[in-house]
Amino acid sequence: MFVLVNLKTYPCDPVEVAEAVRDVDRETEATLAVAPQAAHIERVAETGVETWAQHVDPIAHGSNTGGTLAETVADAGAVGTLINHSERRRRLADIDGAVRAADRADLETVVCANNPAQIGAAAALGPDRVAVEPPELIGTGTPVSTADPDIVAEAVSAAAGVDGEVSVLCGAGITDGEDVLAAADLGAEGVLLASGVAKADDPREALEALVEPL
Ligand code: G3P
Repeated sequence: MFVLVNLKTYPCDPVEVAEAVRDVDRETEATLAVAPQAAHIERVAETGVETWAQHVDPIAHGSNTGGTLAETVADAGAVGTLINHSERRRRLADIDGAVRAADRADLETVVCANNPAQIGAAAALGPDRVAVEPPELIGTGTPVSTADPDIVAEAVSAAAGVDGEVSVLCGAGITDGEDVLAAADLGAEGVLLASGVAKADDPREALEALVEPL
């Protein structure tokens, strides 16, 4: 299983969480990675943890003030990027452009979507993975994998219906190992989560509980 911890803009210490993710990754067969804010990528990557960006723009080097350039996040140490997170929605053409920009910089890609229909469209753009996250469950602690299992299973079918291999993550409300197991049972290759780790009093303990049953 792939476990991607999105730190959003939570006020956690990104390096402390990154070190916990790195250490727990070494203790389990699951692959753990962390997506800090863009300005923290370099410090986080220096810990040795697998580091992802939370977003890249559909741009190239040039006149793009305030843009997030795929090459720059790769240069800072990111190996992959989220695209079209529910809190960073983009139009289809821009999602496509961001996937191309990430490919150009050799970044892995996870394109997020709200529901199975969008997952089909996202998967058709050829990312490495897609992630289904019902927005209404994000940050609630109510896990998508048990509260809305159909949406995960249908997302897996939608991704399987397009050419190429696009694996599926699910996210929203995931906080413990049972949620991760339920996601795996539904055909998900991993999970995307945030508050269960970034807002935990002890992020390392939260991560250990997450991978313990795997
Ligand atoms: O990117 C992960 C996400 O949106 C889910 O957030 O807090 O429900 O784990 P959370």
